[in-house]
Amino acid sequence: MAMTQRNPGLFGGNRFKLGVFAINVSGGLALVDVPERWDASWDNNLAVAQMADTAGIECLVPLQRWKGYGGKSNVNLYSFESLAWASGLLAHTSHISVFATVHSALVHPVFAAKQAVTADIIGGGRFGLNLVPGSNADEFRMFGAELGDHPDRYAMAQEWWDIVRRVWSGEEYFDYEGTYFKLQGVIGRPRPYGDQNPPMMNAGASPVGRAFALRNSDLHYDFCIRPEDSAPRIRESKAQAGRRELQVWTPIAVVCRPTQAEVNAYLQHCIENADWGAVDKRESSILSPKGSKSQTPEEVAQIRTHEQARAAIGRSHYALFGTPDMVAKELARLSEAGFDGVAIGFVNYRQELPYFVQEVIPRLERMGLRRPVPTVRLAS
Ligand SMILES: Cc1cc2nc3c(=O)[nH]c(=O)nc-3n(C[C@H](O)[C@H](O)[C@H](O)COP(=O)(O)O)c2cc1C
Repeated sequence: MAMTQRNPGLFGGNRFKLGVFAINVSGGLALVDVPERWDASWDNNLAVAQMADTAGIECLVPLQRWKGYGGKSNVNLYSFESLAWASGLLAHTSHISVFATVHSALVHPVFAAKQAVTADIIGGGRFGLNLVPGSNADEFRMFGAELGDHPDRYAMAQEWWDIVRRVWSGEEYFDYEGTYFKLQGVIGRPRPYGDQNPPMMNAGASPVGRAFALRNSDLHYDFCIRPEDSAPRIRESKAQAGRRELQVWTPIAVVCRPTQAEVNAYLQHCIENADWGAVDKRESSILSPKGSKSQTPEEVAQIRTHEQARAAIGRSHYALFGTPDMVAKELARLSEAGFDGVAIGFVNYRQELPYFVQEVIPRLERMGLRRPVPTVRLAS
């Protein structure tokens, strides 16, 4: 088998890496009922995947949703199952890594191990796994499954991951006697591309979830409120991972326009058309930011707008709403704090990614955070 580096660029590549997040679900991350809300058609998925691939973006990360969030727009109702989705995109791209997001409680590990290998070989070693324990009881009931206690979900995820790794390792006919899985004569061929495991990412944020991620994953997706406040936690995560190289990423929402006035007008448009029913289902406490004594009423209003837009556009992930200069500066700030990369949500990926590629990525290159993509690749 031809041996090239697995997942090109994801390890040892650019100092600051980029991913595109949630294109496989209608609405993406945004909980807004605007006419341009994300239509997760295959045509749109393919166009964005190929655009990201050509631009040298390192990965695509899907959300795995089985139902919509309700509200007016029932956001995420229309979605592609991400193992099959990843296989399709890997067949139509050449450099980018494509993750699949798999619920350990809903997809059997022996099946997942084989389908992941199938995708990985189709993509010549560019597959990655986002392992999620799940948190949505309504979705679990659709499978006749109980959500269970939070620590139990991670204990089950540990058994699931141990089984998948043993299948991938080429072990022959093993029995597994766990609390959640009791399996006999397990085997799976072929092994992953180049006989090396695909990378695994996990976004555990609770103490038990984060411990799971630090123990098992190659990429930990951690939340970020203020980049500088994340710095000690990132250092601690990397130290706890020990000899294994651990990357820490964070999901972000981006609205980038030539002027701040255009950005503000767009945020206002999103706030006016936010699907508050869906937002309320996800979060309620963050919409009344307290102003500190040193803040003027205008500054408090500005913070409130930002927070409302952050909830509506980016599910309260860290949000970069600004001009290309501002967005590039904020990405550098995340890099400075120790983050290795970000997975980005836009309201409409197909309309907004080209501007980001054209204006923000060259600024990151000038800052030394990324290397330009070889022209030969751009021409292909
Ligand atoms: C980038 C990213 C992608 C995620 N994708 C999913 C998903 O598709 N489905 C899901 O049920 N949870 C998803 N999650 C939720 C996480 O798996 C995790 O449950 C959450 O961050 C809370 O952490 P905790 O489980 O330790 O409480 C995602 C989180 C992040 C940050």
